[in-house]
Amino acid sequence: MKNIVLTGFMGTGKTEVGRILAQRLSYTLVDADTEIEKEQKTTITEIFKQYGEPKFREIESDVIKRLSEMEKAVISTGGGAVLKQENMDNLRKKGVIICLGASPETILKRTSNNNDRPLLQVDNPLQKIKELFEFRRPYYEKADIMIDTEDKSPMEVADEIIEKAKGI
Ligand code: S3P
Repeated sequence: MKNIVLTGFMGTGKTEVGRILAQRLSYTLVDADTEIEKEQKTTITEIFKQYGEPKFREIESDVIKRLSEMEKAVISTGGGAVLKQENMDNLRKKGVIICLGASPETILKRTSNNNDRPLLQVDNPLQKIKELFEFRRPYYEKADIMIDTEDKSPMEVADEIIEKAKGI
C-alpha cells in the first residue's frame, strides 16, 4: 500500500489518527510540523514570530519534499500544507491523500486547550477558523479521500481510512 498522507484543518485529529494508523499498518509515523521544529531547532510559534508565515511555508515545503520520498510512511501534515500545489504533487507521488474534516465549533474545542497554533491566537478564534476554512475548502477537497471526524473516535477514523485506502 502507498504512503498515507493526512491533511486537514488544525484540530481534525491528524496527529492522533496518524499514530494509530502507523501502529496498525506497521508504517513509520512522521509529522511535518515535528520535523520542521527538529530541523530548525525551534518551535512553529517562534518561526511565525521571527520570520512570518511565508518563510514558514518555504521551510514546510522543503520538509514535505523530503518526507514525500519515504516508503511505508504515515505522513501527517500541518493544516496549511494543502495551500501549495507543489506540496500536494510531491506527497501524491507515493501517497494517497486523506483529508480529515470537522465543524468549526469542534475544531475550536479541540484547539482551545493550547496556544501552539499561531494562526488562532486572535480575539475571535471561531471567526478565524470559519474564514480560514472557507478559503481553504477547495484545497482540502482535492484529497483522494475525505473523512468526517465529527463524533468519531480517532480509532474509528483510522478504521475508516484503512478500509477506504485499501481500494486505492
Ligand atoms: C497551520 C497548522 C499547524 C502548523 C502551523 C500552521 C495552518 O499544524 O503547521 O501552525 O496553517 O493550518 P496543525 O494542523 O498540525 O495544527
